[in-house]
Amino acid sequence: MPVDDADIRINPSILAADFVNMQAELARIAAADFVHVDVMDNHFVPNLTFGLQMVERIQATSPVPLDVHLMITDPDRWAPAYAELGAASVTFHLEAATEPVALARRLRAIGARAGVAVKPATPVEGLFDLLDDFDQILVMTVEPGFGGQSFMPETLPKLRRLADEARRRGSEVWLQVDGGIAPGTIELAAEAGADTFVAGSAVFGAGDPDAAIVALRHAAATHSH
Ligand code: DX5
Ligand code: ZN
Repeated sequence: MPVDDADIRINPSILAADFVNMQAELARIAAADFVHVDVMDNHFVPNLTFGLQMVERIQATSPVPLDVHLMITDPDRWAPAYAELGAASVTFHLEAATEPVALARRLRAIGARAGVAVKPATPVEGLFDLLDDFDQILVMTVEPGFGGQSFMPETLPKLRRLADEARRRGSEVWLQVDGGIAPGTIELAAEAGADTFVAGSAVFGAGDPDAAIVALRHAAATHSH
């Protein structure tokens, strides 16, 4: 059964935007549900983007709420500051966190949605008993670090197992995918149970980013069940 377009979230990644024209780039994605902000520290991943000060300015400028994806070492130390600056959601990597549940509680106490992300090779079964501790789970569909990579279909069985388990437990956790999401792959991820989609190149690389968002949302809704 297809779901309603309103049940699907499309979060464009500003990694694919023009960094020196950020305000204008943000204005091109008014149809987005959240702006996905990729924080990379050149340590957890082999790339460097921006940190707290920059995200603070994006938060002050963006009409759309922020979905911060922390690809950093030691999120236990750094993640709460992103919640404090007003990010709507803060997602850290399971592989990097020392005490993921305690960290999620701190994020929620500050008022952010708490998210946890897993790289393509990280199993999801360890999250089954933690579904209530998180508001969203991000299944990476590429190796984190760079935009413009190809979607990895081998991550889909894992996503499907997670979606089945969440449904079985009556969980309301959002299931997010990130990496290589575009027309042609978003349908596969939606079919496997994702409801929240990050797209960088497919949105900012389009002539009309807002139209691309609307089309992606509709494609996902049509293939969700
Ligand atoms: C990759 C980032 C993604 C990236 C997605 O490590 O987490 O959010 O921006 O870019 P596309 O959609 O181009 O694969
Ligand atoms: Zn991301």
